[in-house]
Amino acid sequence: MAKLLEVRNLRTYFYTDDGIAKAVDDVTFDLDKGETLGLVGESGCGKSVSALSIMRLIPDPPGKIVGGEIIFKGEDLVKNSERQMQDVRGNDIAMIFQEPMTSLNPVFKCGEQIDEAVILHQNVSREEAKKRSIEMLRLVGIPGPEQRYGEYPHQLSGGLRQRVMIAMALSCNPEILIADEPTTALDVTVQAQILELIRKLQHELGMAVIMITHDLGVIAEVCDRVAVMYASKVAEYSYADELFYNPKHPYTLGLLNSIPKLNKGKARLNTIEGTVPPATNYPIGCHFATRCKYVDSKIPNPGSKCWNIEPPLEQVDDAKVMHTVSCHYWKDIEKRREELGDRVPLQEPLEK
Ligand SMILES: Nc1ncnc2c1ncn2[C@@H]1O[C@H](COP(=O)(O)OP(=O)(O)O)[C@@H](O)[C@H]1O
Ligand SMILES: [Mg+2]
Repeated sequence: MAKLLEVRNLRTYFYTDDGIAKAVDDVTFDLDKGETLGLVGESGCGKSVSALSIMRLIPDPPGKIVGGEIIFKGEDLVKNSERQMQDVRGNDIAMIFQEPMTSLNPVFKCGEQIDEAVILHQNVSREEAKKRSIEMLRLVGIPGPEQRYGEYPHQLSGGLRQRVMIAMALSCNPEILIADEPTTALDVTVQAQILELIRKLQHELGMAVIMITHDLGVIAEVCDRVAVMYASKVAEYSYADELFYNPKHPYTLGLLNSIPKLNKGKARLNTIEGTVPPATNYPIGCHFATRCKYVDSKIPNPGSKCWNIEPPLEQVDDAKVMHTVSCHYWKDIEKRREELGDRVPLQEPLEK
């Protein structure tokens, strides 16, 4: 399939008083036409900074894209001028954010805000824009779109506000929609509805989607491929099914063990011990070394690979598809898992 977007060795750093925060450090992934790619990982691992880098919305200072390429339709977005990026953001790549209340302007009616987006992207009259905005509200499943058009953001529920945000994002008919934790602020039922909406619109409009989430359950529901991110790096990257059935990175295993849905009837829900280190202070070798159950030495020592050498992304040799992992010991993971008495993370099929 045709590659639509290629992120190659992206590095985005923030120059802060505490030192250089290497928020995204040598990240590579790509997106095919019409595909859904998941970026998953705990808070602070560089998902939003990756997305904002693609949009070229990194606040500078303190942030800067210091390396890599973001190839969209043969052009490197990193080299684009602000003017060219406005075109890309208006016509090609749109983004929706976690908290719709902060992205909608409280003093304007919802409909007018979509009008603005429509007028910005399509050369139409105000009257025509209103018609299209109401159409967009209908498309994203808002009941009574004519009435909702005239309401202010605070009059809508969280779920409806997120739908308005999606309507605005779609008003430019983008080829890529980046959804940054679009359902995190919503309750579970509404979350499912919004995911369903994104999936439906994607099929109808033929968009590619980058779905950012800390929740592997969301990934299981909507994604074709997944990049698992940990502390500014891609830990593991593959097709969703392959990743769920044949995980190789200790961090992916940890995430899988902490999904409630996949642990039905099993003993205890494991969480990954410890926390992500600050971005100014990642370990020299594997970034996951400080928390990894399978680390080759519990404390840093000069003979340890984990603590001293950055693991390369390698293709998993028993995988029939693209599946890369960044761990020195991925070949031993199954053996080590048995030694430690950890169960295999997934044996039942996923609910789709
Ligand atoms: N404006 C900023 N200034 C300094 N550091 C930042 C800034 N924005 C993000 N970071 C740092 O970059 C890292 C990645 O953040 P982010 O991409 O937002 O994580 P997440 O995966 O939760 O979306 C974090 O350590 C965060 O502190
Ligand atoms: Mg984020």
